Amino acid sequence: MDSNRFISTSISEKEKYEGTVAWQSPSNIALIKYWGKFGVQMPKNPSLSFALSEAHSKTSIAFQSKKSSTAKHHFLFEGKENPAFEKKVIRFIEDLDAIFPFLKQLDLEIASENSFPHSAGIASSASSMSALALCLCSIEQHLIGNLQDENEFFTKASYVARLGSGSACRSVYQGFSVWGEFSELIESSNAYAVPFTFEVHPLFLQLRDSILIVSDKEKKVSSRAGHALMHGHPYAEARIAQSKQNLSWLAAALQQGDTDRFIEVVENEALSLHALMMSSKPWYSLLHPNTLIILDKIRDFREKSGLFICFTLDAGPNVHVLYSTDDEQEVKSFIEKELIEYCVNQNIIHDKMGDGPKRIV
Ligand code: DP6
Repeated sequence: MDSNRFISTSISEKEKYEGTVAWQSPSNIALIKYWGKFGVQMPKNPSLSFALSEAHSKTSIAFQSKKSSTAKHHFLFEGKENPAFEKKVIRFIEDLDAIFPFLKQLDLEIASENSFPHSAGIASSASSMSALALCLCSIEQHLIGNLQDENEFFTKASYVARLGSGSACRSVYQGFSVWGEFSELIESSNAYAVPFTFEVHPLFLQLRDSILIVSDKEKKVSSRAGHALMHGHPYAEARIAQSKQNLSWLAAALQQGDTDRFIEVVENEALSLHALMMSSKPWYSLLHPNTLIILDKIRDFREKSGLFICFTLDAGPNVHVLYSTDDEQEVKSFIEKELIEYCVNQNIIHDKMGDGPKRIV
């Protein structure tokens, strides 16, 4: 990849600039898991996810030419000061200096909020970092006008989001997207995500994802630390090969409407992710006893009912139950009868495949 492709320019010191941009951007759930990185936020293996609908972040940035010699960047989370989040966001923006040189010429008021409670145990980095990246690209387009082309705009937003959080780069598209080099999709890249351009069978275009909140506690080990444990992991090479094979099988299953293959690959990816954590040195596990009870119950229900239903997990104990809109009633009643008792405060977030990010302002 041409590393200068995403580098922007400064703006005139003499002119006065002012404006506001805002984006709503979704969370995503990976079916093929990104686990392990190299260099600057490059993935060791390709991943595939789909954008959610209900779980999203809204971020706005009001910008104006700086009033004093150094630009002021301020951040509010859900309308309030949040020093920990502010530090992370400001640091991220400072690190983007080479890509967006104009940012140090602007005072920025950044405000962000999530549609889901911070304590819901849902990772917010994908939605928040993608919303922020989209806002920064809209400012660039407003000031410099070089991101007119839609494809170039979203590719750059994905590139920038990746630098904030790997999984965030897949959130700038609707439907399925792929991040990381995948030989069957020539446009795929380690530097940004691309839409999954093959024609997807209608069955998989109406996927539902009911997120069973088994625990809402902060994770013991962050994803960042988990990725780092893949360096020197005894199964690292095998994992890379497995993810590529699984992605190839899943890509075919998505096109053919092959639900059996979909289930086999998606559950294998979820369990392999957690197996990698358990076989890291030092080992750790993010699973909760209730997670395992739920997984067993989903398998039993699938065998008895014959319905298309399966699970995936992210780096945590919560279970994402995947099924088709056609079976919504049966699956929801199964969840109510058999699974809800294993959720903390009976907490479930019913989500589905979404339309991707939306510009609000
Ligand atoms: C298990 O994207 O949260 O959800 O790049 O360090 O921010 P950083 O990690 P992050 O890792 C997510 C890992 C995963 C799988 C996935 O989303 O592909």
